[in-house]
This record gives sequence, structure tokens and C-alpha cells, in this order.
Amino acid sequence: MRIEAVSSEAWDVQDVDAVAVGLSETAPESKALPRQLQDEDQRTGGALSALLKRGELTGKRGELHSLVGGAGTGPRLLVVGLGKASGRALREDLRRAGAVLARHAKAHRLGSIAVRLSTFSLRGVEPSVAAADLAQGAELGAYEFSEFRTSERNPSLERLVVALGRDLRRTLPRVRSSLDRVGQVSEAVLWARQVGNQPANVASPAYLAEKAQELGRTMGLKVTVFDEAQLQKMGCGGLLAVGGGSSGHPPRMVVLEYPGRGAGKLPTIAVVGKGITFDSGGISIKPALHMSHMKFDKSGAVAVLGILRAAARLKVRPKVVGVLCCAENVPSGTSYRPGDLVRTFGGKTIEVLNTDAEGRVVLSDGLAWVNATHHPDAIIDLATLTGACVTALGHDVAGLFSTDERLARALLDAAEGTGEGLWRLPLKPLHDELVRSEVADVKNSLEAPPGGALTAAAFLHTFVGETPWAHLDIAGTAYVTSLNSKWVPPYHPPGYVAFGVRLITEYLQGL
Ligand code: BES
Ligand code: MN
Ligand code: ZN
Repeated sequence: MRIEAVSSEAWDVQDVDAVAVGLSETAPESKALPRQLQDEDQRTGGALSALLKRGELTGKRGELHSLVGGAGTGPRLLVVGLGKASGRALREDLRRAGAVLARHAKAHRLGSIAVRLSTFSLRGVEPSVAAADLAQGAELGAYEFSEFRTSERNPSLERLVVALGRDLRRTLPRVRSSLDRVGQVSEAVLWARQVGNQPANVASPAYLAEKAQELGRTMGLKVTVFDEAQLQKMGCGGLLAVGGGSSGHPPRMVVLEYPGRGAGKLPTIAVVGKGITFDSGGISIKPALHMSHMKFDKSGAVAVLGILRAAARLKVRPKVVGVLCCAENVPSGTSYRPGDLVRTFGGKTIEVLNTDAEGRVVLSDGLAWVNATHHPDAIIDLATLTGACVTALGHDVAGLFSTDERLARALLDAAEGTGEGLWRLPLKPLHDELVRSEVADVKNSLEAPPGGALTAAAFLHTFVGETPWAHLDIAGTAYVTSLNSKWVPPYHPPGYVAFGVRLITEYLQGL
């Protein structure tokens, strides 16, 4: 999608199929058309004020009206509802509005839209921010994973023109640079979605390593891939145990390094992702229903790839080390078993009680390894770790656990800004005690289910030492299916979301 900003009025933009305006929701009794939309009312022969009087045009979030001018020629008018949120919540409404426009364009074969920014940049949202949110919503909303479909499909919106008009003309340079920056992030998200949507018969651990290497070549990042033999030498028994059941798709640990930019001592942020390319549960096998969703159990690792891509494109200040813990969890004669005792990187040991609690087992190596070798200032991990987190929080916020107040605060702020929601859950000494094992340092599962997201987090806590750490349980937010599509905004089409890419990139930009 080409996105441009122009200083002219939207109706003067040449060769667009539609002009889009935003409408806020007002009290049902105030049926007056906002002054800003008088021009549109005239162009449609009074249709806007008529629809408003009839109560059909309300400005409700997600509402969309498509109208043609009195003469039936020229671009059509799209009126998109912004809801009544104010302040920061409006940013989310703008992303949604962008997505609603892009999805409408796709369904109705509209190739280009000019948006009248002054009707969107309201209630304290700066024009440059409003433009970026609209554009990002449109780009992410228009995405469709169609690589494996041979039937015909509608083309995507090709061109989005942000028209400032007389009122906002002087903001053109700021709007342009803001669109440029958000475009880099959107590109990284779409790139990551394309990787994350690949099924397990394509996206093996070796495939993710190959994608990392390709990313390293194009972005100038240092990439290291540790194969089975190297993992053996390093003592990464967690990855080897979980990956041991797969005959064709052996485990890999993949490390990407972005060097940071700027003077002085740069902070180092480690980002670690769970990369289970398929989670059948292993010997503790899962039921058949919905098992296909477990091709998305690599979501954390793919998000790490997306984060490194965005960090490199935006040239953020901190040094970023990305670690992907990749393995396929399947049952076979060489699988790890319930009861196994496993030695992980650095020497800590795990009692395996359930082979389906495999995410924490592969992450133990990645977390301990990056902590010991890179001495990061903070470690953030992303993992589709527990069904318990989905039970607790549903599909629109991810669970946040953190040992560090500043880190937690910064992540919650980034969540607010990007709309990738986080909700903090507790980490207590009690939970650390609960995961202690009689025969090893920690056990990977408890016999009793309550608080499963908390004990999983406590398990990971064992492997990060004293380093400030945050764990994001993204099990509920990582992918969209017909079961949860009502929970997610329209800029999250079915499939892999790339949850965390925008959030962590925002966090890195703030350092
Ligand atoms: N990958 C799953 C968690 C998951 C569940 C992700 C639903 C996305 C949607 C994880 O490996 C798992 O199986 N966790 C178990 C842990 C249990 C065996 C202690 C779970 O949540 O049931
Ligand atoms: Mn599992
Ligand atoms: Zn899993």
C-alpha cells in the first residue's frame, strides 16, 4: 500500500475512488451535522444530514456508510464512525477506522482513498499521530494470508492519501515523518505475519533460522544459529529434550544482534521468544480438537524476528539481542518423557512432569544463555505459554509478569500507546516455592491446575537471575481464529497477529 500525505483538500486529490471522513458519536438527541461535514452534505445532496436525522448515521465505532454524490459521478464518500472515546483511547479508534476503510475498500474493489485528516484528528490527538494510526490500521487491516490459496481474491487498497487541507497544511512535514516511521513498523509486522502464518510443515526450526539469517543479511544484523551438536556442547538440555521427539525437524537456538546507535553507553535489551513450531503436547498429547492452532506456538519467536526487523529499520538507540528457542514438540520413540530429569544451560535442572509444558523448558536455555553471555540490562520474553492465561484474560490483553517496576511501567505505557494490551499478573515468592521440585531444581508442571499462568512465570523466573525481567504470556493474543475473532480489532485479520512487535518496538523507541 502506498501511503502519502498532501497539503491539498481531500476532494481536490486526483484519481481517487473515495474520500473518507470521520464522524464521532454524539448524543442521539443532538442530530446536527458537525460543521466540518457541511461540504460533504452538499456534495451528497443533503444525504448526510438526512441519514443523521433518521438515526442511521450515528458515528458509532466501526460504522461505515458509503454514499455517492448528487450527480452520481466523482469519488464516493465514506463516513466512518469513531465512537465516543476521548483522549488516548481515540488512537485505538483511529487504527480501527483505518482498518474498516481498508477492508471495505478490499471488499468493494476501491483502489485508492483520500482521507480528510481534519475530521479524524480530534479531541487532543495530534495530526501526525492521527495520520499514523489511521495508516497503520489500514495497512494491518488490509493484510490477508493468501499464499496457499489459488482461487481469485480481491486486490488490496493500493493507495491511501492523507489530505491535510487548509487547516492542517503547516503540519505536513511532521505528518510525513510520522507516516514514514509508522510505515517501518507496519512493514515489520506484515513481514512477521507472513512468517508466523506458515504452517508447521513449512516453518520448522531450521526455517525460522533461515528467516533470521535472511533478515540478518538484509538488515545488517549479526545472526548465529546453534544446531543440535552445538546445543549439546553448550549444555542446552531443555531445547534438546523438547526437540528430541522430532525426526525431521531438530531444534535450533537462533540469536540476532542489533548493535544499537548513538553515543555513550547504550543499554542492552534481550528479547527471547518461544518458538515451538508445532505443539502436539508430545507424550502428554493434546486432544485433537483445535490442535491445529498449535502451529502458532512459535508466535513469541516470530515476534522477536519482527522486533529485530523494526529496531533495525528505525535504528533505535539500545542494543537489542533477540533469541529464538525453536523446537517441534511431537511424540515418538525419541521424545522426552514425563518423569525425565533435564540439565539446562548453566546447570539448573528440571523435572519434567508433563511434556506439554514444553515452552518453559525451551525458554530456560534461552533465558539463562542470554543472561550469562550478554549481561543485558533487561530481559523480555514473549511466549504462548499457558491456556490458563487465556482463561484469565481472554484474547485482547496479554499477561505481563515483571520483577522490575520501571520495566513494567514502561511496557504498560507502550501497551497503552499501541493498543497491544497488557494486564499485570503477580509474581510472588510463594509461586517460586510452588515450582520447586523434590528431585530437581524446578518442576515444569504442578499436579493441581489453578494459577497455571503464575506458576509458569515463576518457573521462568528461576532462569533470569537478578536481571530486570518481564514475561509476556501471549497465548490468548497471538493468533485469530473463528473462535476469537470477536475479541480482536479489525486490524487483526485471521491468523498470526504478530502481537508484541508494535509494543516492544514502541518500548525500545522510548529508551
Ligand atoms: N502452547 C501451550 C499453551 C497454549 C494454549 C497456547 C492455548 C495457546 C493457546 C503450552 O505449551 C501448553 O500446552 N501449556 C499447558 C501447560 C500445562 C500442561 C501445565 C496448558 O496451558 O495447558
Ligand atoms: Mn504445550
Ligand atoms: Zn506450547
